[in-house]
Amino acid sequence: RKEEVSRHQQVLDMAQAHYARSLKQSPEAVRYLKQRGVTGEFAARFGLGWAGHDRRGLAAVFPNYEEPVLVESGLVIESEDGRRYDRFRERIMFPIRNQRGSLIGFGGRIIGKGEPKYLNSPETPLFSKGNELYGLWEARTAIRGEGHVLVVEGYMDVVGLAQHGVGNAVATLGTATTPAHIQKLLRASSKIVFSFDGDKAGRRAAWRALLACLPLLRDDISMRFLFLPADHDPDSYIREYGAEAFKATVAEAMALSRFMLEELASHHAMDEPEGRAACVHEAKPLFDLLPAGALRMQIEREFARLVQLTPEELAQMFRGVPDAQP
Ligand code: UTP
Ligand code: MN
Ligand code: MN
Ligand code: MN
Ligand code: MN
Repeated sequence: RKEEVSRHQQVLDMAQAHYARSLKQSPEAVRYLKQRGVTGEFAARFGLGWAGHDRRGLAAVFPNYEEPVLVESGLVIESEDGRRYDRFRERIMFPIRNQRGSLIGFGGRIIGKGEPKYLNSPETPLFSKGNELYGLWEARTAIRGEGHVLVVEGYMDVVGLAQHGVGNAVATLGTATTPAHIQKLLRASSKIVFSFDGDKAGRRAAWRALLACLPLLRDDISMRFLFLPADHDPDSYIREYGAEAFKATVAEAMALSRFMLEELASHHAMDEPEGRAACVHEAKPLFDLLPAGALRMQIEREFARLVQLTPEELAQMFRGVPDAQP
């Protein structure tokens, strides 16, 4: 069992070295990264690579292409008729490391047209998408230096920000933010700034992240949300406006409490008693998630004002009287 895991690890490391070598030898892949503003220095820092056009490109480093661990590690796919071929082809490869720096999987971006745009390693004994954060290991020094960690949506956001001197960003792997992510992040920093894409999906992702944060809020941690213009993500924004402009938006990121209350209010007609009552109804389970403490009291007080109840009335709604509604 232990031997299996270490062979799995070895296979990932060998594949990464192969992809990185292939990148240096591929003018089209280098051109793609250059055109996206990624220099050789930063490609090397993140260990970026290239999975070429060959259906069995990895056979160059694994002469025994039938070795079961190639399939178990997710690098090779076995089709129903038993034929094997490389999972990743024609993709820029992003090695994904755990917080100890061990390689656990890959993300791959297609450089031409084709679906899906990003392909990840499947779930393996080493790799569980919902728990890992891309770039956490690479960002560890910058996170300490900056005093906060930035959470973004995409691989290219992490690399693009680093390329412009903002090295403290990490990304979820195409999944919603989970409490497991937040716990991992809080071990790295007590200040988290979420910076999702400026589109509808980004707004939804921010709300999901807020829900994951609520049970873990404490009075000594800070969670903020940054909303970029609608057609931008952190990578495109920093390329267009530069690092100083991006850092200025980070400095002005919205407090979690404000995002929570504004979003709740936006769902209801707050100028009518019915709307305010429905808002209280929607808010109750969220407040139930909040641990007791000064921050919950503060947010409750603001919320009471918003729904035009006294803090005592609101406390009674939330905790005093059992919910009369079916
Ligand atoms: P985006 O579509 O915002 O990608 O998805 P991006 O990083 O801005 O892509 P570029 O700039 O066009 O290269 C954000 C993240 O969602 C996941 C990936 O983790 C991606 O980085 N994703 C996206 C997938 O897993 N599969 C997809 O097909 C698309
Ligand atoms: Mn910063
Ligand atoms: Mn997006
Ligand atoms: Mn992008
Ligand atoms: Mn994006």
